[in-house]
Amino acid sequence: MNVGFIGTGKVGGTLAKSLGAKGHTIYLSSRDPRSFSVKNLAGAIGVNASVYSIQEVILKSDIIIMATPWASTASIVQQFANQLEEKILIDCTNPLKPDLSGLELGHTTSGGEVLQALVPKAKIFKAFNTTGFNISEFPVLESRKAVMFFCGDDSSSRHIVRDLVDEVGFEAVDAGPMASARLLEPFALLWIQCAYKFGLGRDFAFGLLRKNSVHN
Ligand SMILES: NC(=O)c1ccc[n+]([C@@H]2O[C@H](COP(=O)([O-])OP(=O)(O)OC[C@H]3O[C@@H](n4cnc5c(N)ncnc54)[C@H](OP(=O)(O)O)[C@@H]3O)[C@@H](O)[C@H]2O)c1
Repeated sequence: MNVGFIGTGKVGGTLAKSLGAKGHTIYLSSRDPRSFSVKNLAGAIGVNASVYSIQEVILKSDIIIMATPWASTASIVQQFANQLEEKILIDCTNPLKPDLSGLELGHTTSGGEVLQALVPKAKIFKAFNTTGFNISEFPVLESRKAVMFFCGDDSSSRHIVRDLVDEVGFEAVDAGPMASARLLEPFALLWIQCAYKFGLGRDFAFGLLRKNSVHN
């Protein structure tokens, strides 16, 4: 598939490398497409990766993975709302307060729902937000896949999102409609606070245990 990236930092860069290694065509963007870091990322992925402006990446891609700071995410979506119509967009962001002490919104809405409301015709999913980029790089710990919940409202494209989450190496779990982002964003905050406040560090992940099941 043609997978485009808005935000090619820690999260976007990690997912781009992972999906590039699976043979997808990777379109990377940057506010400055000539920047060394994004060109370097494309070089590390290989011939199936190239760099364009954000607008070009949206136009060329079947799926867009969004991994930008929350403070700029809504305005980027708003700016490219027309081009994003009918596209699948995977939102990896978390509406974190700048000091990571909490979320800027929640309970009765979520970052994912805010973005979906900005472009009702886009097929927006929340995924890859509930663990660190270092876990997304190697999502198998103790011989088990880390769990990755995803959610979104569009029924026709959710199998595509599930397949991408699987390909990155997670155990993909469909968590239902975009309103479930109200659960997934605080869940991300739990990971962050366990990592930085409660002593676990970044090298842990949440997993799913099932009674009477074979390991995935
Ligand atoms: N770090 C983690 O472990 C982690 C895990 C899960 C989810 N998240 C979430 O994922 C998102 C990205 O986190 P990150 O750690 O990957 O951040 P990061 O390393 O700082 O990368 C952010 C990227 O966003 C781009 N960007 C920044 N401002 C922009 C703007 N105004 N317009 C367009 N692009 C802009 C930057 O690209 P250019 O400068 O090249 O334009 C950069 O590549 C955040 O919402 C974060 O909460 C992070």
